[in-house]
Amino acid sequence: MTALDIQRIRADFPILKREVHGRPLVYFDNAATTQKPQAVIDALVEYYSTYNANIHRGIHALAEEATARYEATRQSVADFIGAPSADCIVFTRNTTESINLVAHAWGRKNLQPGDEIVLSAMEHHSDIVPWQLLAQATGARLRVLGIDDEGRLLSDDIERLIGEKTKLVAVTQMSNVLGTINPVEQIAELAHQQGALMLVDAAQSIPHMPVDVQALGADFVVFSAHKMLGPTGVGVLYAPRDLLEEMDPFLTGGEMIRRVTYEDSSWNDVPWKFEAGTPNIGDVCAFSASLDYLSDLGMENVRAHEIDLVTVAMRRLSQIEGVTIYGPRNPEDRGGVVAFNLDDVHPHDLATVLDQHGVAIRAGHHCAQPLMGRLDVVATARASFYVYNSEEELDALVEGIEAAARLFRAPVPTRA
Ligand code: ALA
Repeated sequence: MTALDIQRIRADFPILKREVHGRPLVYFDNAATTQKPQAVIDALVEYYSTYNANIHRGIHALAEEATARYEATRQSVADFIGAPSADCIVFTRNTTESINLVAHAWGRKNLQPGDEIVLSAMEHHSDIVPWQLLAQATGARLRVLGIDDEGRLLSDDIERLIGEKTKLVAVTQMSNVLGTINPVEQIAELAHQQGALMLVDAAQSIPHMPVDVQALGADFVVFSAHKMLGPTGVGVLYAPRDLLEEMDPFLTGGEMIRRVTYEDSSWNDVPWKFEAGTPNIGDVCAFSASLDYLSDLGMENVRAHEIDLVTVAMRRLSQIEGVTIYGPRNPEDRGGVVAFNLDDVHPHDLATVLDQHGVAIRAGHHCAQPLMGRLDVVATARASFYVYNSEEELDALVEGIEAAARLFRAPVPTRA
């Protein structure tokens, strides 16, 4: 069983004390965003109460303190993901912005007509649309790795589609819908054999399992703080320093320059070359507290806890008549995400009934419309778990689904 003390963890999250529609909150929408422990909230308050200042420019005590704390978080991020140094870490607003940064700063410089970008059939829109626009701008084209009926990548496609025309492979490490954990290490190796680069969308994986970016062998790794107990508005791009140095700037203006004249400008060192304007200082500083919190729990323990929860959730949901669960059947092959449908009930209706039971889930296309097409559905319901969720909370999920079944699937009375 899990090594996490769930009751002790829950006490650290003030929001978990609240009720929704008169019921205790059961928060199962963690793949969308996670809740924040008091330590993260305190860190944010501490920044604004005691050392709020702009960074990298002020010659005064507050500015120096804010700069030191902001740069210390960069080192904490590097340590958390096994990056060789802090200058491999670029702060952005979110995973989406990190991917757009790569598409602009690396893609526009390096892609030509006929080049190929390989994605997978389970990518989030933010790992599709930037490449689509890049392909339109450069004459490159997209290739898509298919999936089997359990939502696993087709190994034949991996062998077949990653070839000499491939310049970039961009694949999620953990699907935000199916939960599938993809073999990104092997895919990166294949990409490199073909001289291509590899981007790993780790938005759903780094918060939930141990990830060492050097062991992954990926060239770009992107993720967001808010999905790992941290504040919103902070994304991360990891890339080796020499690759960042070769890339063009993305957003331009203050902070990212070394020297500016009306004729020409030159760029700051990496990673600051990619951090134009005043960054999200307070939230970056508070992100440190969430990394400390997760490190104290231990990412192996976080992963083990989610396997336990998913195992029980899949067993209990599959016992409800009319429920279809998507993604790999083996909980070891998936993250803490369970997407499902209930026959004859629209996922939005299901989510509305669950909300009345205090249970927060996501329903819809999950920013993965092409995947919905592959699954032949317009939408699904999705429960997604994190460190503070308990097996007992699954009772409310099951009760809510059964209530929705009674409400929407009751025989419609016919007129006499
Ligand atoms: N990407 C987030 C989700 O899957 C928003 O819900």
